[in-house]
Amino acid sequence: MVESVPVDVSNRGRFITFEGGEGSGKSTQIKLLAERLALKNLRAIVTREPGGSPGAEIIRHLILSGMGKLLGAEAETMLFAAARDDHVHSVIAPALAQGVWVLCDRFADSTRAYQGKVGHVDPKLLDALERVTIGALKPDLTVILDLPVEIGMKRAAARRGNEAPDRFEAEDIGFHQKLREAYLQIAADDPERCELIDATGAPEQVSANVWNAVRNHLLTPSRRVKARRA
Ligand code: TYD
Repeated sequence: MVESVPVDVSNRGRFITFEGGEGSGKSTQIKLLAERLALKNLRAIVTREPGGSPGAEIIRHLILSGMGKLLGAEAETMLFAAARDDHVHSVIAPALAQGVWVLCDRFADSTRAYQGKVGHVDPKLLDALERVTIGALKPDLTVILDLPVEIGMKRAAARRGNEAPDRFEAEDIGFHQKLREAYLQIAADDPERCELIDATGAPEQVSANVWNAVRNHLLTPSRRVKARRA
């Protein structure tokens, strides 16, 4: 359990999650941020969801093959939660406890957006699963990369080339439009934690905005105290 991992809050690493629709450029931005943190001599790991630990990667394969969808929306949500539980307890919490920053490609907001707001899974079930899988371990900063759905879907199609779209890429444009609105709502509901960033520009330009967000939220003394208290 997260609670059983001894965490020295003052030396704890920072937990940054990246969210957004298909083709929003999360993995590029995470890589660029990891490089900047390395230049500042801050130790960081890059990880992803679903997946990020051996057990969770097995569940990822199951979900993205479309198997989870066959089980129904609630069961698929529980598969994401099972993957998250393993990832949090075996990778994220231990790294943070050692003072290592964790940059995670998708986290609980993906479940809130994809399964909750778009998939209509009961928020009470999501609350209960978050209590078990995440407990008190909330991200210190969530970067939400926003761009028009048509651009995102084109980028995602170009990236996968001849490969078939996965479980979620195969959803129609209406699904992705709702997803974008869900993320805009998440950003509006929690402005202290979330930073909404326009992802239509060149990677270097987006990266400069991501870095500003990290500086403002986590490296500026007054905000850092807030992050520690949370
Ligand atoms: P991935 O190939 O990692 O997609 P992306 O490059 O867009 O991040 O596939 C993960 C898919 O799983 C993605 O379409 C979003 C979806 N997902 C959920 O529906 N719920 C979740 O809780 C998570 C973590 C991901």
